[in-house]
Amino acid sequence: MKSCMCEHLKTQPWWVLALFTIGSLSILRFSLSVLNWVFVNFLRPAKNLKKYGSWALVTGPTDGIGKAFAFQLARKGLNLVLVGRSPTKLKDVSDAIQTKYGKTQIKTVVVDFSGDLDEGVKRIQESIEGLDLGVLINNVGMSYPYPRYFHEVDEELLRNLIKVNVEGTTKVTHAVLPGMLERKRGAIVNIGSAAGIIPSDPLYAVYAATKGYVDQFSRCLNVEYKNKGIDVQCQVPLYVATKMASIKRSSFFVPSTDGYAHAALNRIGYEARCTPYWPHTLLWALASSIPESIFDAWRLQFSLGIRKRGQLKDSRKKD
Ligand SMILES: NC(=O)c1ccc[n+]([C@@H]2O[C@H](COP(=O)([O-])OP(=O)(O)OC[C@H]3O[C@@H](n4cnc5c(N)ncnc54)[C@H](OP(=O)(O)O)[C@@H]3O)[C@@H](O)[C@H]2O)c1
Repeated sequence: MKSCMCEHLKTQPWWVLALFTIGSLSILRFSLSVLNWVFVNFLRPAKNLKKYGSWALVTGPTDGIGKAFAFQLARKGLNLVLVGRSPTKLKDVSDAIQTKYGKTQIKTVVVDFSGDLDEGVKRIQESIEGLDLGVLINNVGMSYPYPRYFHEVDEELLRNLIKVNVEGTTKVTHAVLPGMLERKRGAIVNIGSAAGIIPSDPLYAVYAATKGYVDQFSRCLNVEYKNKGIDVQCQVPLYVATKMASIKRSSFFVPSTDGYAHAALNRIGYEARCTPYWPHTLLWALASSIPESIFDAWRLQFSLGIRKRGQLKDSRKKD
């Protein structure tokens, strides 16, 4: 049968053979990427994070994704440095983690990333002095209260977006890296966003651009430090049910913060860029198959709808 098929192919004109070869290679490529997807999302074991060091630092750990990261890192047996802006919320989270995971040592550092960042970073440096800090989760981030055109973004929002999302991530990384280099090990996870790498995110231009920065920053650092024992990764989630996303309930395509953090921890130390929650990767595949012009038009309509609701809420508050 096999030889019969070969004989049959030999008698075909060159262009049929060329099409056959291209088709076979495409099927092979697709099959390999499906197998790789299954392996990465369901079979590959997570790295032992304690191998990077016994402490982890999380920024923005008092709510949302960062809080879930803090709990799950404690569950894995890491001690924590929690960096947030509210002393009360930091204490509440620390107490809750210690009630659940009694052995966890926790240090807290108060930093408002939209305030005096240099002073804040100094406090972080002091608090990590001498610690075997192996994992850094640069999670802190902010977005627009609701979508708006660029000319409607006021000075304060513009400044804070860049300070919190860009400067915060950059400066905390800068403070933590020297210790990791000395110990020749470490994992840095920067929380980006799909907004930073999709074709466009109209009415969220500055947020999306800051996340684009986080993505490229991480990819460059990953290449710079890979052979020095430090794994740098940018995670690009789609929607997660948090106050920033204004989504209260999780669903199949919108994980809870715990669901996201659980998937996220399994990916640390592997790819330079990843989308840890596997249903999000299905949405990626769908988005990538749509022509950009259609994606852009859909995204604009989507954001305009949320903008309208946001403006309505604002005007009700003023009345
Ligand atoms: N949720 C999503 O759908 C989604 C999607 C893609 C990417 N992301 C990214 O994931 C990260 C976490 O987002 P999230 O949804 O978990 O947000 P969130 O629920 O709003 O939590 C944000 C955390 O950052 C802290 N924070 C905000 N501004 C701060 C400041 N100026 N100084 C210090 N701490 C500050 C918050 O502190 P308080 O508790 O004091 O408010 C909170 O702990 C962000 O980088 C975001 O861009 C989220």
